[in-house]
Amino acid sequence: MDSATTATQTKKAEDASASRESLTITDNRSGKSYEIPIKNGAIRAMDLRQIKVDPAEFGMMSYDPAYNNTASCISKITFIDGDAGILRYRGYPIEDLAEKSTYLETAYLLLHGELPTAAQLKEWTYSVTHHTFIHESIKKFLDGFHYDAHPMGMMISTIAALSTFYHDAKDIFDAESRRKQTYRLVGKMPTIAAFSYRHTLGMPFVYPDNELSYPGNFLNMLFRTTEAKYRPNPTLEHALDVLFILHADHEQNCSTNTIRGVGSSHVDPYSATAAAIAALYGPLHGGANEEVLHMLLEIGTVQKVPEFIKRVKAGEVKLMGFGHRVYKHYDPRARIIKKVAYEVFELMGKNPLLEIALECERIALEDEYFIKRKLYPNVDFYTGLIYQSMGFPISMFPVLFAIPRTSGWIAQWQEMLLDPEQKIARPRQIYLGHDTRQYVPMDQRG
Ligand code: CMC
Repeated sequence: MDSATTATQTKKAEDASASRESLTITDNRSGKSYEIPIKNGAIRAMDLRQIKVDPAEFGMMSYDPAYNNTASCISKITFIDGDAGILRYRGYPIEDLAEKSTYLETAYLLLHGELPTAAQLKEWTYSVTHHTFIHESIKKFLDGFHYDAHPMGMMISTIAALSTFYHDAKDIFDAESRRKQTYRLVGKMPTIAAFSYRHTLGMPFVYPDNELSYPGNFLNMLFRTTEAKYRPNPTLEHALDVLFILHADHEQNCSTNTIRGVGSSHVDPYSATAAAIAALYGPLHGGANEEVLHMLLEIGTVQKVPEFIKRVKAGEVKLMGFGHRVYKHYDPRARIIKKVAYEVFELMGKNPLLEIALECERIALEDEYFIKRKLYPNVDFYTGLIYQSMGFPISMFPVLFAIPRTSGWIAQWQEMLLDPEQKIARPRQIYLGHDTRQYVPMDQRG
């Protein structure tokens, strides 16, 4: 074989290997190479396990605290491109859904994969609406909470308590049972949220009105007093519906990862949803909208914004409502929310905290600290201002996130259950604690 032929063959082999969908890893401890297949831009962590120096070793793992770079599932529900600021549910851009859809239609889309036909939407709306009542015993249960109990604490406990009422919820592999629990969860979340709110005010509970829309009925259960028939303000009803659409799902965030993880033990969906609500309650997740309001109140005036930003840059406090694990660009939901905010302010009067929020955003978007870290306003930055203008107390803000997220949680829970590759979620650890030690009797401990 002449050298020209050899060179051609080498080039062909190189081209073939360059186009192979695989990764070659060389273990420099042993000099051994491993070819690991790439599928959908990822390698399987289990393929790393074969990498070992000694056959008795456990094998290589990947270490990824907080799952910064680990895909835990294959999903067909929500797509986010964090660099481009794109969010789509089942392929439909969030902007289109916010403009043209309703929350119940969007919830159907998330849960069923397709937009409903007129007949399907009618049936779905009827079923959700006819599952809005809660058992009278739940009212007694709610009465047990202190008047100043946080509504998220009440939501977590009450949703968990639903599992004690619906024993059929344990049949998680029965499609009919899942359908029933979905109606109940989507239908009862607003009722429990509204009852929790009324309880804190010491006001009588208002029962659901089946003639109203999903957000309209929620406003009825929250705010109705002596009217024979509550008529929600159309601007507020629409604003709430849009906010519900924007909050319906957000792929593998902390609370969704929680419902998938807890649900992977095959517990009933009420217990799993209670766990998801608990995850959402944290100030780094759905509790951030509440924190934003406290922060704006603490800043107090536009003049004090630069001083506050200085504290943020010094690492003393966070600018709540800014930053996101996935979005390294303006959160597309925040853009839509800003528009809704102005519609609500036109009706209810401008929220005096708006100027402070706008000044925080203006300074942050021009400041090197925020630019370098790609910190932009997220969904929670403006929602609190809208909720406050609509008359919600600050503690209700995370509840307003939990209600619509229920459809996303259940869609993700169901996808996890029906995925033959999924098993009980059980990560590995790297143990760096003590090796075996001799037990030290009490009188010998220093
Ligand atoms: N204010 C000031 N600095 C921030 C902020 C903030 N809000 N967020 C991130 N940073 C800094 C952070 O200190 C770090 O700086 P350095 O590189 O010097 O250490 C850098 O930016 C990267 O931050 P990170 O903490 O590694 O980012 P993460 O992906 O782990 O956290 C986050 C994401 C949302 C938890 C975080 O940005 C945060 O705490 N934001 C405030 C809370 C908030 O608004 N949460 C709502 C999120 S959107 C609604 C939802 O889906 O839950």
